[in-house]
Parts: sequence; C-alpha cells; structure tokens
Amino acid sequence: AAGTPGSPRSADFVVVANRLPVDRKKNKDGSQGWKTSPGGLVTALKPVVQAHGGAWIGWGGSADEHIDPFTFDGHGVVPVDLSSDEVAEYYEGMSNTTFWPLYHDCVEHPEYHREWWETYLEINERFARAAAEIASPGATVWVQDYQLQNVPALLRSMRPDLKIGFFLHIPFPPIELFMQLPWRFQVIDGLLGADIVGFQEPGSAHNFVRLGRRLGGLRTYRDKLFTTDGRTVTAKAYPISIDSQELLDLSRTPEAREIARQLRDDLGNPERIFLGVDRLDYTKGLRHRVQAFGELFTSGQLDPLNNVYLQVATPTREGVRRYQILHRDIDEMVGRINSQSGRIGRTPIQYRYSSYPKLALAAMYRAADVMVVSPLRDGMNLVAKEYVAAHDSDDGALVLSEFAGAALELTQAYMVNPYDVNGMKNQILRAAGDSHANHARRMRAMRKQVFKHDIEAWAGSFLSDLGSVPDPQ
Ligand code: ADP
Ligand code: F6P
Repeated sequence: AAGTPGSPRSADFVVVANRLPVDRKKNKDGSQGWKTSPGGLVTALKPVVQAHGGAWIGWGGSADEHIDPFTFDGHGVVPVDLSSDEVAEYYEGMSNTTFWPLYHDCVEHPEYHREWWETYLEINERFARAAAEIASPGATVWVQDYQLQNVPALLRSMRPDLKIGFFLHIPFPPIELFMQLPWRFQVIDGLLGADIVGFQEPGSAHNFVRLGRRLGGLRTYRDKLFTTDGRTVTAKAYPISIDSQELLDLSRTPEAREIARQLRDDLGNPERIFLGVDRLDYTKGLRHRVQAFGELFTSGQLDPLNNVYLQVATPTREGVRRYQILHRDIDEMVGRINSQSGRIGRTPIQYRYSSYPKLALAAMYRAADVMVVSPLRDGMNLVAKEYVAAHDSDDGALVLSEFAGAALELTQAYMVNPYDVNGMKNQILRAAGDSHANHARRMRAMRKQVFKHDIEAWAGSFLSDLGSVPDPQ
C-alpha cells in the first residue's frame, strides 16, 4: 500500500496518462484544493487505483508549474511537470499536430518536425521514470493513449519486473498511412514494450499486428506478436464505454428534468430538438454536419418554426492552429445560416461554445429528440453512448457516423457517411420522422448494449487479461 505519495516502489497499481484524474478547485476558505475530474476513464480506474493504494501519474494541465506528489481520496497523485516549450512540442505539436491527424485517417495533414519528436521522447522518458520510481516489485502499470506510446518500452528497460498494459483511445491507422511517420520503427518498438496493447476496435488491433509483421519483421499468430527478445505481446480490442447507470440516474433527477424543461422553453418549445455535443475538433465532422443542417433549414425541409438544432462545442486545444481555424469557420457558418434561414424570434442553429457540468449534459440528452454524432473518424465516441444511456424514454433517435468506433456496437442507430452530405440530410429526416415503434425498438436494443458493456466491464476485461499474463522470467 502507498505510504507517502510518490515514495519509492510503494504502488502495486499505477496508471500513467497524459492528464491527472484531478482538477483544481477553490475551497470555501479561499485556499486551493483538488476535485476528481469528470470523465469515464477516471470513473473506471479510480476505484482500482484506490483498492491497491496505487498512484496516478499525469500532467496537471498548466505549463511551468511544479506540483509535489500528494494523496487524494485514497490514492497517490504524481504530477509530471511540463515547461511551456514542452507543452508546445510534446502536447500541441507531436501529440496533437502529428499523431492526432495521422491516426484519424489524415483528415487534416499531419506535420512532422524532428524537434517535436525529440521532445516527445524526452517527455515519455519523464513519465516512464516517474512510473519506474513508484511501482512496487512486480506491480501492474497501465499506460494510456497516443501521447505516451513510447512509455511501455522505456519503462520495461528500466523495470523488467513489471506487468505493463497500454490502451490506445484513438484509432490505430492502416499501415499505408502509418508508414508516413519518420519515426515509425521507434513507435512500434515503444508500444511493443507492453504485454497487452489494447485498441477500441478489432480493425485497429489488426492494423497493429500487420504492421508488426510487415514493418517490424516479427512473427505473428492471430492477435499475438512475438518480439525479438522472446516476449509475446497481445494486440486486442477492448471497446471503451461509460458509466451508464450513473448517467441514467443523473438524467432522472428532478434537477435534470427541470433543466431539460427549461431548455425546451428557452428554445421556444419546438416540435423537435436536434442535438450535437462534441469537442470542437476537426475529426468530429462539424463542418459537414452544420452544412447539412444549414441546407435543411434554408430549403425548408426542416421548418425553423418547429425545429431547432442545438450544437454544443467544447473548447479544446485552443493553442493549436487547426483548432483555431475550425473555431472561426464554424462561427462563420452558423452566423451565415442563421441570418439566411432564421425567422423573427427563431434562431434555427443554437450554438454554444462552452463546457458544461455532467448534469446539464444529461438534461440536454434527455431533451433531445434526435442526437447527431457524425465524426469523420473517431476511436469510439462516448457521446453516442451517453445519449443512449441518458435518454430513457423510447422516443429518441441516434444518427451515427459509420466511422465512429461506436458504430460497431450501436448498430441500431441511423447510420451515415458524414462525407455524403445529401445522404446525411436524408438520414436526419428519416430519423426525425420515423414511427414511434421504430424509435422504441432501436433505442431499447442500444440501451441493452450500453448497460451490458459499461466502463466497469471495459476496465475489468482489460485488467483481467493483463492479470493472466505470465510473470516476467
Ligand atoms: P473525445 O474523447 O474525442 O472528446 P468522446 O465523445 O469519446 O470524444 O468523449 C467526450 C467526453 O467529453 C464525453 O464524456 C462528453 O460527455 C464530454 N463532453 C463533451 N462536450 C462537453 C461539454 N461541452 N461539457 C462537458 N463535457 C463535455
Ligand atoms: O480520447 C482522446 C483524448 O485525447 C484523451 O486522451 C484526452 O483526455 C481527451 O481526448 C481530451 O483531449 P485533451 O486531453 O487534449 O484535452
């Protein structure tokens, strides 16, 4: 069990993620404190970390700030400090201007800069060192996501006694795209340091195995890769999910019902509310979606007197140029469409560039008649699952991109190819106009899926597989 947080070799279970599971808050007496961050990953892993007296290693989210390790809510919190140059090169650069677009089908051009790569490696080494220092002998370490792909191998070289898992939250690209990466060998070697490399969907796991064989020259068999140093690495899909019950409970509270009622009122009690909830990211297909709604409103296929499209866009990665351009583009598109198709007292696209508490989101899901989730590429898309869990009456409908990982599980959604704007318009109209019986049948099937495969099941299956890996020789 953990002694002083950060004390050497004290944690049996360690999570390594780019972000810490805590956010700053102001205490009543004005002093600074911490609160648990919202989000599925934290909800799923925090109880495991607590049960083992374990630790979570991550970046506190601001540059040039030193935070000492501390204990919070029964687990260790070990901050990794980043300077502003490191944030620019490791986080905004290599992670979010190279890997992010490359792994999302190159929907924007990835940029390759040697300095970014050097810094990425340095920071991965910093995270690996922090894990090596705190993990107890034979401990389990679970590394998260594309910001930390080299941590598994670096950590294994420092601590061969550990069990190491890695989970990629975003897609793993086809070999033809991955080959662009100037540091392609190093990245595969980095990931192969893990015992299990988990992906959102079987297609990503398959891409990785194929890459190990073709580029790494490794022997492979089904989901296994045999490394040159005699280890076996498993590459397998573990589709992530949400805390379905928590969200449902939240959406049923009197507070959520009241917020939903108020929202309908504020929107002029339209016949239908269409909803989108996304980080303002170019992978989310917002340009295509806003275009589709714009055409539906200006052509009169959706009457602005009876229909509202509410789009919530969460500010994200605002230091990255592509995100700034997208922000400006969407502002302009929404303004233009509203001025062309609005009526006195009616604004067909209600656009909110803001973050919301979970309760408010649950209320929006509840209020929405049609949820539209249309990413150009997405590892999973939790928003789609959240809508299904929170909208517990049978009259909802989910329009879902076939390029979201969630499409493999939520097969009863109204599927769209977001690049096909006409096709998307038709599916939006079809979802809105379908019979109550069809809505009910589809929603029930999807609800069953989301409640059976929740976030606890996800963490449980990954950790149980990792637990079955033989101890290192
Ligand atoms: P990504 O991981 O790419 O952001 P997901 O859809 O998988 O996409 O997850 C997004 C998460 O962020 C969801 O849990 C969702 O509830 C949350 N979220 C999205 N928009 C907002 C917002 N405006 N305010 C608060 N939380 C949000
Ligand atoms: O799921 C992908 C992901 O990058 C997570 O790793 C991350 O926590 C989330 O999206 C939000 O992005 P960011 O941490 O860059 O704000």
